[in-house]
Amino acid sequence: MVKILYTKWDRDLNLWKNKLRHLKWVSEYRIDIIKNNFSLEGKEILDIGSGPQFLSDLLREKGAKVTTLDKFAPADICMDVNDDFINVIKDKKYDMIIMGAVVRYIKNIKCFLEKASLCLKDDGYIFIDEFVHNFFNDVFLEFMVSIGAMEQWPKEKFVSIDKLEKIISKIKDFKIEKIYSCWPLFYLEGKWFEPVWYTLILKKNKRL
Ligand SMILES: C[S@@+](CC[C@H](N)C(=O)[O-])C[C@H]1O[C@@H](n2cnc3c(N)ncnc32)[C@H](O)[C@@H]1O
Repeated sequence: MVKILYTKWDRDLNLWKNKLRHLKWVSEYRIDIIKNNFSLEGKEILDIGSGPQFLSDLLREKGAKVTTLDKFAPADICMDVNDDFINVIKDKKYDMIIMGAVVRYIKNIKCFLEKASLCLKDDGYIFIDEFVHNFFNDVFLEFMVSIGAMEQWPKEKFVSIDKLEKIISKIKDFKIEKIYSCWPLFYLEGKWFEPVWYTLILKKNKRL
């Protein structure tokens, strides 16, 4: 007999906040990078794959208006980002799109970024970050699990920064404005050796 233990997982944001609690700490870094680069008051932001919404919360605290989109977690727009999200957003234009630890789920990144450009203002930005798998990081993530800071560590295949840079170089709509290399206690601007995760800020190229 199938016994269903919990039926509200898709509607309970607190459950997501608990399961993905390590992203609260990552989001403190994210907000620091974002507020050092942008003024957030009144800005319209789309948080794609918003999950536990730690970053959405911090952005709202700084005065931004955030719309969340997620396929599984509770969000303003509940859909698969690989589907036609432009049709759902319609004519709305955002100042910034956030893609935190979510690029790994995009089926065709080039096609996605070209579509995302349509719902960004002319001077809009995309913030992307992603973890890096290597021996040291995997040991670190196992340690985080052992002290209870994470429930499990993500074993998916992550998109490397080199691959992402290559894809972006082929898209006329965006240029990479900044790259950050991030470790558990600090981050540095630029592409440094073996970060735990990397961050890219893409600037939309104005159409002439
Ligand atoms: C690793 S979590 C990142 C959450 C949040 N962006 C953060 O970093 O704090 C990945 C999130 O992407 C969502 N997700 C996975 N596949 C998706 C898809 N195809 N479309 C929309 N959201 C998706 C998951 O439900 C989850 O909330």
